[in-house]
Amino acid sequence: MSKDKKLIIANWKLNPESLKDAKKLFVDIKKVASRTQKVQTVICSPSVYIAELSKMYSGHRLEVGAQDVFWENKGKHTGELSPTALKSVGAKYVIIGHSERRALGESNTDVNKKVAAALKAGLNVVLCIGESKRDSQALYLKFLREELESALSGVPKNHLKNLIITYEPLWAIGKSADDAVSSHQMHEMYLFIRKILTEIYTKNIAFNVPIIYGGSAEPDNVKELLDSGEIDGFLVGHSSLKASQFNEILKITNSI
Ligand code: PGA
Repeated sequence: MSKDKKLIIANWKLNPESLKDAKKLFVDIKKVASRTQKVQTVICSPSVYIAELSKMYSGHRLEVGAQDVFWENKGKHTGELSPTALKSVGAKYVIIGHSERRALGESNTDVNKKVAAALKAGLNVVLCIGESKRDSQALYLKFLREELESALSGVPKNHLKNLIITYEPLWAIGKSADDAVSSHQMHEMYLFIRKILTEIYTKNIAFNVPIIYGGSAEPDNVKELLDSGEIDGFLVGHSSLKASQFNEILKITNSI
């Protein structure tokens, strides 16, 4: 992961519905992603498509990733996917702790085990943290601190070079640019996350971990967030399912 590049990570969620459609969307995105030098583009697709998609581009500007992973590499764990298996089919990144996984019962302990195992296997981890709502006493900050501290519990500092933190408030997911975080709010979160990382590790390490934003990142709000929110990129959900919108985000980011 180059520190001078912005990260634009697509979270396709449970889309598209077939390998054929996934390949078409990938090809359409590749046309722009392969030319945007200042952007590292990542497509986190449903895991069954990863092996095929990763064969469709041989450079480094566009990589493929998964949306979840298990913490063991083998054994009696029916239905799970291991970090080493994902790596062996071409995945370079994995989203961990997305609120849609947490809503299905994933605990902070599970997230911690997944983060540790994926980093150990050499995957780039896109760790998601985010509050469901904000309150006037700022209790949400306590909640975020707990999510972040527990996710990184016991993670050695030499594994952090492959860590990306996504601030993704649940109240902003799946809406529109107007409902997303403001650049002022993002800047505050950026400082808050850096502060916690500095407390756990060192200032130097904390400042090298990319912090990205997720939650209705769209062509209409990415410029302002990049200009004044002090962020290193975006985790893009619905706008990554239309190549025209996603490519617009890539072009805007590349031009900054
Ligand atoms: P959204 O999703 O861009 O549709 O809000 C982002 C996400 O859930 O990762």
